[in-house]
Amino acid sequence: MMDDAHPTPWNEPVTVAITGASGAQYGLRLIEALVAADHVVWVMISKAAHLVIATETAIELPARPERLVEALSGRTGAGAGQIRCFGREDWMAPVASGSGAPSAMVICPCSTGTLSAVATGASNNLIERAADVALKERRKLILVPRETPFSAIHLEHMLALTRMGAVILPAAPGFYHQPTRIDDLIDFIVARILNQLGITHRLMPRWGEDP
Ligand SMILES: Cc1cc2nc3c(=O)[nH]c(=O)nc-3n(C[C@H](O)[C@H](O)[C@H](O)COP(=O)(O)O)c2cc1C
Repeated sequence: MMDDAHPTPWNEPVTVAITGASGAQYGLRLIEALVAADHVVWVMISKAAHLVIATETAIELPARPERLVEALSGRTGAGAGQIRCFGREDWMAPVASGSGAPSAMVICPCSTGTLSAVATGASNNLIERAADVALKERRKLILVPRETPFSAIHLEHMLALTRMGAVILPAAPGFYHQPTRIDDLIDFIVARILNQLGITHRLMPRWGEDP
């Protein structure tokens, strides 16, 4: 996939699903970082996530996938075709099948509702189905839950998912890099996700590296 302003092919697609846990900014920043790293990004945003985005940010994002592509491309500077968005029941999307899904998917942030649906294989919407496909195909699946405190149900589902090969990467930023801005806390988590994906970044130094 290329566009005129970007004559070399994009790097392989990564699926990013934003669900209705607090911390939508983590997911939006992740999309921005993947675009900056020249990856194609396939995006799904749940209905609850749209409500959370409207509640906790000043960002206005349309629900319709075609308009969402424009809005996210405008925000991130993505090239033509670099971002694709899929709707809740877009079962024809490539992420719905093992033959079309990319090698990595991140649910960021991940609500406990979606966490539980993924752990039990519900597949009632495209986000849940795409995660189910990632698990059955033994592809990389990273879930970024945000809830506190966790119930036994949440913890049991996280353990089950870890045993299935998924990575549970809680939205729990550290403070040892002495953050002074909210963006520093967001980048802490996004950097950890990119590390898991094996994508080079300069969001923050790794432990033991010079800043
Ligand atoms: C402003 C707001 C904040 C929320 N924060 C959380 C949260 O931090 N964690 C969580 O698991 N659910 C949270 N919820 C509840 C979920 O959005 C709700 O369970 C929803 O059904 C999740 O649906 P989804 O997984 O399809 O996005 C929040 C809801 C709203 C409106």
